[in-house]
Amino acid sequence: MYDVVVIGSGPGGYVCAIRCAQLGLKTAIIEKNATLGGTCLNIGCIPSKALLDSSEKYYQAIHHFKEHGIQVGNVSIDLDTMMKRKDQVVKELTDGVRFLMNKNKIQVYSGVGSFYSYSSDKIEIQVKNPQKEEIIETKKCVIATGSQVITPKDIGLNVEIDGEKIIISDHALALKSIPKSMLVIGGGVIGLELGSVWSRLGTNVTIVEVLPDILMNLDGKMRQIARKALEKQGLKFLLNHKVVDIQLKKDSVISKIQTPKNETIEIETEKVLVAVGRKPYTNGLNLEKIGVELNQRGRIKVNQHLETNLKNIYAIGDVIEGPMLAHKAEEEGIAVAHHIANKYAHVNYDLCPYVVYTWPEIAWVGKSEEKLIEEGIEYNVGTFLFKANGRAKGMGETEGQVKILAHKKTDKILGVSIVGPYASEILGEAVIAMEFSGSSEDLGRSFHSHPNLLEVIKEAALDVNKEAIHK
Ligand code: NAI
Repeated sequence: MYDVVVIGSGPGGYVCAIRCAQLGLKTAIIEKNATLGGTCLNIGCIPSKALLDSSEKYYQAIHHFKEHGIQVGNVSIDLDTMMKRKDQVVKELTDGVRFLMNKNKIQVYSGVGSFYSYSSDKIEIQVKNPQKEEIIETKKCVIATGSQVITPKDIGLNVEIDGEKIIISDHALALKSIPKSMLVIGGGVIGLELGSVWSRLGTNVTIVEVLPDILMNLDGKMRQIARKALEKQGLKFLLNHKVVDIQLKKDSVISKIQTPKNETIEIETEKVLVAVGRKPYTNGLNLEKIGVELNQRGRIKVNQHLETNLKNIYAIGDVIEGPMLAHKAEEEGIAVAHHIANKYAHVNYDLCPYVVYTWPEIAWVGKSEEKLIEEGIEYNVGTFLFKANGRAKGMGETEGQVKILAHKKTDKILGVSIVGPYASEILGEAVIAMEFSGSSEDLGRSFHSHPNLLEVIKEAALDVNKEAIHK
């Protein structure tokens, strides 16, 4: 009998298992794939970042090295090596998760787990190698089975994902050659990140987004700055457009696209990347048999302690409501482990950071200006441009800015958005300041080493009260 069995070894599941073990609970984890780490480590965050870094280095070599006085002659790509490096990065990290499971004495079951018959405390595992069925018992179970891609069929397009012409992110992370052209359906995180990878490597990329802009949760002004930066690199955006039909030709795909004026245009590309979001993955768990309730969107319903309607079953990560982000799942995994061990934990969803790893990077936390207006909250704004920052100038990375929104009366920081070099790293300072209910004055008065990219945060914070020095 286990104290806890976690189903799914993505960042939510494996982090939860480690914390459970650290808290003295007898813990097991079940994973259907050959490697641990889930979507994030195997076919998501990690391989995409590896390719984003490789492609950015290539782009820099072609477009920016000469500004630094570096002549590199003809720059060429060895895609095979680029992919092998990415695979090695993934392998080292997934092996690392396996090491952590062993170190923490967590039993790993390789196979598909599902609730056995009608009982919520027995889990059946279809073990793959050697093939057998195993039934284990547990006091508590954590469902961390993640999400799966929304398919063309789900959005009314009568075409199958074939991995050749019609691809999803899994395929876009492992192409064998550089396509001449690619239509990306969806201007969300995957569309922008993988669109950037292939655009930098030479593919002609067009992104079709059904909404009026990309990244609609991001502050409106910052969204425009981000989009313009990406357009300058050659990405093309068709906003308020919708792909209504796809026809496969011998060597290409013709996408029929409805414009905002209700006209139809056709775009022919070598590949179509479908990146219109993900849906919860609960297939085969037998949830209906044991009576775990789902909401209308197919996500598992949980209370504030992340318990489902069955008190011994918890759910975390992409299978429940909220942003489908690895770090959100991780925090939930920690909170659940503590709840099971009768200790206190809390997830501060208001401060979940969002990052898009394009270049410049796009990162934000808290509320946008539009949201504050909608909620009738009075605020002051501080901004600062990277081009006035000494470190950014030295790096030759001057595109973008920081925007800080602080409460008009209390000066408490309510939202921070950044478009710029290493925005993902810089945002961390804002998250910590906000976690401690910091004010813009607190940030503006804190020491920042010089020269440093983080000085943009300090200056933007000072600018909230119109005290920026270099503006
Ligand atoms: P997404 O939810 O970020 O974006 C999907 C986009 O497709 C939205 O802008 C939506 O309006 C648009 N869309 C939906 N239906 C459409 C249609 N019929 N035609 C045109 N556009 C349409 O989903 P995405 O990019 O597929 O990513 C999946 C998940 O993975 C997301 O939850 C995302 O947060 C996560 N992810 C996070 C990353 C990060 O944190 N850096 C990196 C990659 C993925």
